[in-house]
Amino acid sequence: MNPRTPRTRPARRSALVLTVALSALSLTACGVVDGLGGDDDSASQGTGNDITVGLLLPDKDTARFEKFDHPLIKERVAELTDRKGEVVYANAEGSKARQSEQFARLIADGVDVILVDAVDAGAVAADVRKAKDAGIPVIAYDRLAEGPIDAYVSHDNALVGEVQGRAIVDALGEDAADRKIVMMNGEPADPNTALFKKGALGELDGKVDIARSYDTEKWLPEVAAENMRKAIREVGAGDIAAVYSANDGMAGAVIDVLQDAGVTDLPPVTGQDADLAAVRRIVAGTQHMTVYKSFLLEAQGAADMAVARVRDQDIQFDALTRERVDSPTRQDIPSMLVPVVALDRDNIRNTVIQDGVYTVDDICAPAYAAACAEIGLTS
Ligand code: GAL
Repeated sequence: MNPRTPRTRPARRSALVLTVALSALSLTACGVVDGLGGDDDSASQGTGNDITVGLLLPDKDTARFEKFDHPLIKERVAELTDRKGEVVYANAEGSKARQSEQFARLIADGVDVILVDAVDAGAVAADVRKAKDAGIPVIAYDRLAEGPIDAYVSHDNALVGEVQGRAIVDALGEDAADRKIVMMNGEPADPNTALFKKGALGELDGKVDIARSYDTEKWLPEVAAENMRKAIREVGAGDIAAVYSANDGMAGAVIDVLQDAGVTDLPPVTGQDADLAAVRRIVAGTQHMTVYKSFLLEAQGAADMAVARVRDQDIQFDALTRERVDSPTRQDIPSMLVPVVALDRDNIRNTVIQDGVYTVDDICAPAYAAACAEIGLTS
């Protein structure tokens, strides 16, 4: 096994159902989450609300971090602490050096707990160690940071890749084996990248011809665009039957490049994150699918775990972290893994709209009104 590839317990994998409706997920997950927070809990434990959570997120190029993760965690911490708790937030803007400085500042400020979504999962280990030495617990958020972390909250990331890979095989149908596809993978220092890729390859290997495969430095759309131009030059625009794109930011760049190359009948392009721009492309038919991960459940889980840890509420903490995951440096890390759902033209209403991530009006701006009407998306 790749030493950087975290191992998830197999039992959990089989327990996840790909097509489960998000409403059901919300109920299940909130059954865990909702029972643990709130005023009663803190009051009965006689524990403080005066909690400072340090939050370190990796970049601003992917919409989710600023738009969802930060505000959702902040709101949940406020809810759990009678609005007295605080989140001190910093975004590393893609720089592991900057993230290390931000980490040091949180330790110097003596925050109560740190949630970190690592720019570089290996490099961050030294900072995790320093926080632990200072008595500050660290929870890995979304990406499995190395070092002595207390817990991890994320999605089943190999499943994300499987869902994407399967969408391509299904879209290509019968003659998939003869068709050439291009893979746009993420940033290699992000441990999720290896999991997405592994999950996707499990579906694609032997079923399609993987003509080109690229890593994408820092997940940058402009890097994906450059690689897509290269793939078109080398493989030929007309011969690319599908593009596996690990996330939505890159999918947007890939689609632009294909269109600039004169491709009108676009091949299926995958994505991840359910960015608003991607959901609109799915409505318009230019992007085939995305993977919808409930950032709400992930963010709430993180906030609940952080607050429970600071309050020494071990029973609650254990209930939130029933999974076990191994990193290259630590085994049996208590974890919460939130399920994922494939989002395409058929289930926009049952996923992001039902969960209140976007309204119909958010998605169906005037340029998309006709396409929205076609799939029954009207307010
Ligand atoms: C991954 C994350 C994805 C996506 C990507 C781009 O680690 O799980 O949701 O945002 O990073 O930064």
